Amino acid sequence: MTTKPRLNICTTCTASNADAPSNPRHGQTLFDRMQELCATRDLPFDLKPVECLTNCKSGCSVALNGSGKWGYVYGNVDPESMIDDLCELASKYAESEKGIVAWRERPDALRRNVIARIPPLD
Ligand code: FES
Repeated sequence: MTTKPRLNICTTCTASNADAPSNPRHGQTLFDRMQELCATRDLPFDLKPVECLTNCKSGCSVALNGSGKWGYVYGNVDPESMIDDLCELASKYAESEKGIVAWRERPDALRRNVIARIPPLD
């Protein structure tokens, strides 16, 4: 059985442009909206809620990882306007051989949002 690459979404994030945490948290809203989108499509990645990626000052934060792929942390994902962009990015990530999505191939809205990348284990 092969495991799909994963889009991890921090559900406890506060948006970087917010004055205070919301209820539900901005990260939870991002996860809920992505989950709704995933339910309507057969996507090449799995979705997982996580609590804190230690990127709180640049929330909302997500992490992409997968077997044999570079891992990526993205920040400042707007839960209102970037759902489709995030889905496109995660799909391209999942379909790439090593997890590398060229800068030009990334959706415009997320092109400059990479916080870190982590080398694959294998
Ligand atoms: S609460 Fe989301 S990165 Fe810390």
